[in-house]
Amino acid sequence: MSSGSDTSALVSAEFSPRLGGMAQPHAPGFFVVFEGGEGSGKSTQVRALAARLQAQGVDVVTTREPGGTPIAEQIRDLVLADNNADMGPRCEALLFAAARAEHVDKTIRPALQRGAVVISDRFSESSVAYQGAGRGLGMTDVAGLSAWAIQDVAPDLTFLLDAEPEVGLARALDPNRLEAEQLEFHQTLRVALHELAEADPAAHVVIAGGAAQEEIAEQVWVEVQRRLVSANQVPVPTP
Ligand code: TYD
Repeated sequence: MSSGSDTSALVSAEFSPRLGGMAQPHAPGFFVVFEGGEGSGKSTQVRALAARLQAQGVDVVTTREPGGTPIAEQIRDLVLADNNADMGPRCEALLFAAARAEHVDKTIRPALQRGAVVISDRFSESSVAYQGAGRGLGMTDVAGLSAWAIQDVAPDLTFLLDAEPEVGLARALDPNRLEAEQLEFHQTLRVALHELAEADPAAHVVIAGGAAQEEIAEQVWVEVQRRLVSANQVPVPTP
């Protein structure tokens, strides 16, 4: 898939610190992200993966974007509020980045440093797709903004839950102002999320929508177990 933008610049050491043989600075934890369009079943999969890891005695932190800390949740309310429909795209991109900076500093990095598995419903690729591609701010610029907000943390593994936008949007009962965008917007960000996955295949698993949630959960589980073992990042069991 291609949205016509240059994705090669996205696979820079800055955006993806794992490339070029750089060590994960946050070891010994493990950071899993679920990305996807609206109604792709991310939150169900976050819960299912957390439950399976917790059943093994693993220290797990589940979180979401925008959000994951008291300040980031306040930014979430601001950025998603229906009555802020006239918010400019740069303001929107900066607010998502601000929420992410807080989320990484207060929730994600400390959890990874103590050895937890962190599972986030969305992360920086949502900004690159929604604000960079969808809002037209440019994927490379938004990736740079997000990299600055994040500093030294990068997902170890990202699952892209792919779904036809028509199907996913039909599940949104009370659409936020991004969900309420035209179908074309959602098609654009779907293409962008694919580009991001294709640009760094070692760190992404694309799962086709349409399968039963239990089947997807099984695929996710097999992959996470394999990665944890091969990364030799055996998580710390909860006391
Ligand atoms: P949410 O209700 O969490 O939607 P979903 O269940 O689809 O994750 O709302 C988050 C919305 O914010 C969603 O429409 C995607 C959007 N978003 C961005 O536009 N940029 C971002 O960086 C992030 C994290 C989310």
